[in-house]
Amino acid sequence: MERVVHTMPQDPKSEDEVVWITYVLRDGTKKKIRGKVGDNVMYLAHRYDIELEGACEASLACSTCHVYVDDAFANKLDEPKEEEEDMLDQAPALRPNSRLGCQIILRKDLDGMTVTLPQMTRNFYVDGHKPQPH
Ligand code: FES
Repeated sequence: MERVVHTMPQDPKSEDEVVWITYVLRDGTKKKIRGKVGDNVMYLAHRYDIELEGACEASLACSTCHVYVDDAFANKLDEPKEEEEDMLDQAPALRPNSRLGCQIILRKDLDGMTVTLPQMTRNFYVDGHKPQPH
């Protein structure tokens, strides 16, 4: 019988660290994730197989981790750095609440935040990627 391990090393150590975040996927499905203080919104998505690209591995050299932050929380985030603004300028379907997911680090006051994946991203990696036959 398959053994299921529930405790992951990244799990929050206490309830004080828990930060719930909801991802709205491209098809409109909502996925509520139990994250923790210090988690990066892009890497957290990857851990739960949410299709949020991160082509440059959080080095502020792409816009594939583009998300919309819901208005109630958009103002709570730190102002974007100049590099983030520059990359966002290249993201398709930019909105006032657009941010780069890899630059959002969860804090306790972001508990309950919703981020929405845009319908499209400009993905340099996939665009130039040739799928290998299986
Ligand atoms: S992953 Fe490239 S800027 Fe976020």
